[in-house]
Amino acid sequence: MYPGAKTFFYALSRSARLKRLASKYGMRSQESFARRFIAGETIDEAIDASRNIQAQGLHLTLDYLGESVRTVEEADAATREYVRLHDVIVRSGIERNISLKLTQLGVGIDRATCVDNLRRILEPAGRHDFFVRIDMEESAWTQMTLDIFETLWQQDYRNIGIALQASLYRTEQDVRRMNELGASVRLVKGAYKEPQDVAYQRKADVDAAFVRLMRLLLDSGNYPAIATHDPPMIEATESHARQHGIGKERFEFEMLYGIRRDLQGTLASEGYQVRLYIPFGREWFPYFMRRLGERPANVGFVMRGILREQ
Ligand code: FDA
Repeated sequence: MYPGAKTFFYALSRSARLKRLASKYGMRSQESFARRFIAGETIDEAIDASRNIQAQGLHLTLDYLGESVRTVEEADAATREYVRLHDVIVRSGIERNISLKLTQLGVGIDRATCVDNLRRILEPAGRHDFFVRIDMEESAWTQMTLDIFETLWQQDYRNIGIALQASLYRTEQDVRRMNELGASVRLVKGAYKEPQDVAYQRKADVDAAFVRLMRLLLDSGNYPAIATHDPPMIEATESHARQHGIGKERFEFEMLYGIRRDLQGTLASEGYQVRLYIPFGREWFPYFMRRLGERPANVGFVMRGILREQ
């Protein structure tokens, strides 16, 4: 993790001109650069990618890309797309697991719209036995996201889980609360550039927090997802589970589509449950920029890709 790079790529991700340029080339052909991280722009492409992943013995969660919508109509369109996604997933026979963001469902417009939209998605999800994970976004949304999650949990929606970010100082308290509820947590380091009054800035501090929280989740959480590509985090998880007799069926590793495929395969062959987060859709630019910010070396392959496409 490179804090400077995060700031730089965050600034670039706000550029409408760069978005237009990237959107023109990024997914144009099967070899285009954004395809390394994005399964496709359509549901059909995402289903094909999911089938391949399942054939490798991996689990999946599908994410219809989109965030920070500005109008009720956009939030409604995203909700309808998620409802349609349920039907397509059920017909295709792939695993029933989706991930979504509350700013995509209108939390930035008003809370009630967002909760209504989320319920519209949770209805068919409950009927068809889907698991729905709520991603965690910038810290400005953390409390609201947790409040909405807990409201729905108290209303007996039990097919939902949440993502929590090790980089935030508050997260230990949030992990304890989720453990108390019996809710499943996906632990991540945190993909957003956050100010130092709310989040650790140094990789070593984030990593130390990640290990502490992973242990809390393994010891007293409900089927936690340890979501990282970082070998020391993975080794710490394996070793804690081994030392405390925590079976491989009691937690899972999660990774992002296109990152560390070697590790995904190795862990699955060792009997761990490994789930891939598979993003698809036309609104891939901000997600893609976060992936570049995590690893600036990725810029090289993007530049080569753009030059090839010219
Ligand atoms: P770290 O960034 O330290 O990277 C460790 C190693 O992983 C690197 O050395 C490299 O080998 C590899 N790697 C990591 N990122 C890479 C990249 N982009 N390209 C190539 N290699 C890379 N965040 C968030 O804020 N809210 C959320 O809801 C989610 N959801 C989520 C789901 C899942 C399944 C995963 C795996 C991750 C998220 N994240 C997230 C993202 C997360 O917060 C974090 O930004 C990334 O996972 C990168 O952190 P690592 O733990 O991999 O470690």
